[in-house]
Amino acid sequence: MALRHDIFPRVQPHVYSCVNRYGRNYLAWDGKQPELVITEPELVNEVLKNSVTTFPKRKPTFFLTGIFGNGLVTALGEKWVKQRKLANYAFHGESLKNMTPAVIASVETMLEKWKGYVGKEIEVYHEFRLLTSEVISRTAFGSSYLEGEKIFDMLNKLSIIRSRNLFETRIPLINKLWKSGDVLESEELSKGIQDCVMKIVKKREDKVVNGEADSFGNDFLGLLVNAYHDSDKNNRLSTEDLVDECKTFYFAGQDTVNSLLAWIVFLLAIHGDWQEKARREVIEIFGNQIPNSEEMSKLKIMTMIIYETLRLYGPSNGMMRRTESDVQLGKLILPANLDLLVIHAAPHHDPQLWGDDVHLFKPERFAEGIAKATNYNAGVFCPFGLGPRNCVGMNFATTETVAERIDS
Ligand code: HEM
Repeated sequence: MALRHDIFPRVQPHVYSCVNRYGRNYLAWDGKQPELVITEPELVNEVLKNSVTTFPKRKPTFFLTGIFGNGLVTALGEKWVKQRKLANYAFHGESLKNMTPAVIASVETMLEKWKGYVGKEIEVYHEFRLLTSEVISRTAFGSSYLEGEKIFDMLNKLSIIRSRNLFETRIPLINKLWKSGDVLESEELSKGIQDCVMKIVKKREDKVVNGEADSFGNDFLGLLVNAYHDSDKNNRLSTEDLVDECKTFYFAGQDTVNSLLAWIVFLLAIHGDWQEKARREVIEIFGNQIPNSEEMSKLKIMTMIIYETLRLYGPSNGMMRRTESDVQLGKLILPANLDLLVIHAAPHHDPQLWGDDVHLFKPERFAEGIAKATNYNAGVFCPFGLGPRNCVGMNFATTETVAERIDS
């Protein structure tokens, strides 16, 4: 019997049971605040494609503020437009191409280390944590994992503290007068992260001051430091924004790819036939040559494996939005200020959309691309989100994953 990957009822049992009981979209209550949960692909598509105008992101929760501050993931309005432009430049096109050699070098260092593990067990999740931390440190911040290590550790601790307080009720005045141990620790961690980030920024500034460099650099940190020193006050990035943006990319750029890599290795370990197909394709395209970004895009089998892994075990399950004003969504008439929760993992596991083999690992469903696999319905498969607020690191994440798999 084939191994099934029916994880939705386990990962989001409440959504699973409500969808079965009430249908693909249903209303839930968070205290006195109503929330419309959306899993119908057409509505998923419509909400996400209009995420800047009709269905903007919600004000960030206590959990999200701790991790991302007011960085790109949580920013709204003009601030988001400015920050998105910067990140688009840093993680697409030529900039992305220029990052590829650094990504490959990081993978090769990891594999060199793995040679010492022959015949022993490897904790791959941990190994990929080191790799993805090193890759984002090198490519976006021009530093090594060791330099960013403290930031990753503190962000990790902060996310654990914040997630265990996810449903805590916050009472404005009381929360100012009395702070729990978790709140005190998370304040200390936030301060620690800010100090570490500013140290890395100062190092970059010192290079220009000492004449070792004639600009702050073209990587993401360089662009941020440039904006931090912008002579136009309206365009200038504040210290808080600079720190929040660094935190955002250290966190979003590491944790997600870490999880994807670990699941791919797991799935290929139990599906040896696909491991073999992927190996043959890599040898056919690269032989013994060092991979480059142009050739990497020709890896069809690898791309199918990545999509299928994202479908079954995507790192992101849901996206929060709200209605800006009274609006029609499909057949529904929604009032202003209604919370929306888009659960894009639900269509990924829906047998009515993918067929009876939905819970099986079958990369061949993507043989003719995403559009064909989803019957041209974008909301059926959107692991990186959709529309203007989709994942800005999507191409970077794919490049990193492909580079890791080719070298391995
Ligand atoms: C497998 C890897 C990844 C997955 C599945 C993923 C998934 C997502 C999703 C679903 C969103 C949309 C969130 C929403 O609409 O509310 C998103 C946004 C975002 N992602 Fe990723 N992500 C990945 C990797 C990365 C990487 C490597 C980076 C950074 C280099 C990154 C940075 C961001 C940022 C900054 C946003 C917010 C964009 C905006 O609101 O304009 N992500 N990601």
